[in-house]
Amino acid sequence: MLKNFWYAVEFAHAVTRAPRKVTCLGQDFVLYRKRSGEVVCLSDLCVHRGGALSMGRLVGDEEIACPYHGWQYGPDGGCVKIPANPEGRGIPRKARVDAYPVREEYGLIWAFLGDLPEEERPPLPHFPQHDDPAFRAVYFEMELDANYERTFENVVDAAHTPFVHGTSFGNPDKPEIPDYEITQDEWHAEADILLSPPPAKGLWKRLYKEKPEQVVVTNGWYLPNIVKLHVRLPFGDLILYDHNVPISQDRTLVKIVGYRNFFTGKWADGNALKRIEKILLQDKPVVESQRPELLPYDLSDELHLRSDALQVAYRRRRRELMADGWWVGDDDVVTGDGPRRRATVIPSPARREDPELARAWLHKSRGEPAGNGAVEKERA
Ligand code: FES
Ligand code: FE
Repeated sequence: MLKNFWYAVEFAHAVTRAPRKVTCLGQDFVLYRKRSGEVVCLSDLCVHRGGALSMGRLVGDEEIACPYHGWQYGPDGGCVKIPANPEGRGIPRKARVDAYPVREEYGLIWAFLGDLPEEERPPLPHFPQHDDPAFRAVYFEMELDANYERTFENVVDAAHTPFVHGTSFGNPDKPEIPDYEITQDEWHAEADILLSPPPAKGLWKRLYKEKPEQVVVTNGWYLPNIVKLHVRLPFGDLILYDHNVPISQDRTLVKIVGYRNFFTGKWADGNALKRIEKILLQDKPVVESQRPELLPYDLSDELHLRSDALQVAYRRRRRELMADGWWVGDDDVVTGDGPRRRATVIPSPARREDPELARAWLHKSRGEPAGNGAVEKERA
């Protein structure tokens, strides 16, 4: 799993004045809106006794109170009140939780999960359809028992569609994938691929005058976990942005925003969502059964064809980022039942700004410089 990226952790409409727990990179976070409407993202692990802030309540305009002993934290993660303390007693400097930078874009709440300063952070991708009034969006999600890179690569992979999606948009009679050219930069890669769709079914049939022989599909990825699928149908465009949120190393929350510029009435949303669900339910058993469960680190551990070029481009780029120390493995971040339960926290940018605070946390001894690896607190 890659840190130091903006992750879309929740749909914007789901974040309100009620604290909401989300999980990403094996770590729990709490999201809530200040009274001003701005969204706050904090580590969901209270520094006092490890209570879950998401089970607490909001107080005042922008604070959240832990459900256990009522410590109150502000949007920057600093503790502002300890109810058990007599009046006038100071609050320890270390009484703070990690606070993560947040952006609200494209109907999603994005949290920056890492400790890079603002100017070094990778950019958010650009989804031009969101502000285009010709398009209408639907929002869909599903959890899968599979690693997020397996589900991510599945959507990048055009060659599986005739086999896994032969009864929806794949065409079992035309399985060949013509060679394609990739355009790529540091954070994104995409390619136009010529596919031969099967005859339209259901509602879409109404829009077909003549069945096209081939359609151009733009398929591509944005780091760390987003896949774009832009299908140019004869009657309009369908663009899916598929966010593969790593809940843990082996469980993924797929969040999809689907835009279309045909059948743009609300009445057609149900049909659009049903089509997305059908496709994911076809993928689910296949990706859940892949072995090894995790994407191999070494390119030579699996065989690659020309038609796998987008996945290979991803695996190469991922290796570079691993070499830069951006990889967090299961043992770094997942809270699990070992000989001793561990609770871990992805360091937020505040740690870089305050080295003294950073030192106050125990760094995992993997030879990583302080502030680079995941930070671990131990619960006896
Ligand atoms: Fe949160 Fe004690 S555990 S206030
Ligand atoms: Fe698929």
